[in-house]
Amino acid sequence: MAQTSLLQGKQFYCREWVFHKLQHCLQEKANCSSSAANKPSLVANSGNNTGVVSGKGAAWGVLLVGGPGSGKTALCTELLWPSSPANLQRGLHRQALAFHFCRAQDSDTLCVGGFIRGLVTQICRSGLIQGYEDKLRDPAIQSLLQPGECERNPAEAFKRCILLPLLGMKPPQQSLFLLVDSVDEGCNVSEGEQTSTSLSGTIAELLAGHFEFFPPWLLLLCSARKQSKAVTKMFTGEYRAQDVFVTCICN
Ligand SMILES: Nc1ncnc2c1ncn2[C@@H]1O[C@H](COP(=O)(O)OP(=O)(O)OP(=O)(O)O)[C@@H](O)[C@H]1O
Ligand SMILES: [Mg+2]
Repeated sequence: MAQTSLLQGKQFYCREWVFHKLQHCLQEKANCSSSAANKPSLVANSGNNTGVVSGKGAAWGVLLVGGPGSGKTALCTELLWPSSPANLQRGLHRQALAFHFCRAQDSDTLCVGGFIRGLVTQICRSGLIQGYEDKLRDPAIQSLLQPGECERNPAEAFKRCILLPLLGMKPPQQSLFLLVDSVDEGCNVSEGEQTSTSLSGTIAELLAGHFEFFPPWLLLLCSARKQSKAVTKMFTGEYRAQDVFVTCICN
């Protein structure tokens, strides 16, 4: 997982409108979270029954779509580690709860268990969610995060270790975002079918299956190549009913 800017000192140019749009989306999330009526609900799955209760209204996120090399990763990087004075001043990086960069050449970044554990660590370290760390002390939750267990049941780990604790917390003062760059990496697409590279499914499947249960103050922001239709469709409504903003950053 990247800990510093992937631009490595290179200057970042343009894309001002994307930052404006993201700022607007974060403001919208703040408005959503102050409206209790839109709150989705989620119940842990403790046995064979699925415990998900559908919620509508606040379930939307941002998908940045562009061709290979169009600058999606550069944009995500600038969002987290702003280099331009305008982006520094805008301060969106302070609203980052956690991030993840999927990279084809690094299979560890495509592992859904590592993804979940990485998010948990970052949320704890961020200090943005008071009391989150305390919730994780539960031995049952700790066991879900163990390597192997997490890979066996990523949906349960994602719900019980991330979504449910966050939903149970006092909302932060500002809306926050979870950034996942190249969410389509690790998804093999052939003839419109999406297959997983691992038995436990992909990060894209995990997020697409759960983003409607994100706390209303948390914006899911993903990027994907526009060619990865099977993945973009998971988030954009052809297979799902929720509204998602699709921001195409390049033709
Ligand atoms: N706005 C920008 N300012 C400066 N450099 C940029 C900008 N956008 C992209 N670049 C540079 O262009 C190259 C390709 O960008 P990047 O890796 O972000 O593309 P990508 O859309 O993530 O590609 P892929 O789909 O392969 O992941 C990189 O060297 C990056 O540093
Ligand atoms: Mg990229």
